Amino acid sequence: LASIEFDLTKVPPGQQVVLKWRGKPLFVRNRTEAEIAKARADDNANMPDPQADADRVKDGKAQWMVLIGTCTHLGCVPTFGGGEYGGWFCPCHGSHYDTSGRIRKGPAPRNLEVPEYTFLSDTSVRVG
Ligand code: FES
Repeated sequence: LASIEFDLTKVPPGQQVVLKWRGKPLFVRNRTEAEIAKARADDNANMPDPQADADRVKDGKAQWMVLIGTCTHLGCVPTFGGGEYGGWFCPCHGSHYDTSGRIRKGPAPRNLEVPEYTFLSDTSVRVG
């Protein structure tokens, strides 16, 4: 299937689900206010692949972080809640991603990729 639709009511705040999309893991995370604030406070920090948090989410829906869940180093699946930046950590070679999925430390060259997606309603999203 080229695109998938997903019911966001299945993801409580502070949680994420991992779906499969085009053969890859897809993270859908419902960020807490604290996670969003942490990401935005770091927008101007020195990072390998600089990007503002607001450019990685949809307007008015900053709680929803949709990411392709493969490390941009060699493709392992990072886990949430580890690492030094409160986001994802890739255990394979130690890449630390922040709560926006931006690479902050370690060998990965790029941020976790944000796929194309659209909100069909407040509670439904289509990816792809
Ligand atoms: Fe993630 Fe190497 S594959 S750090």
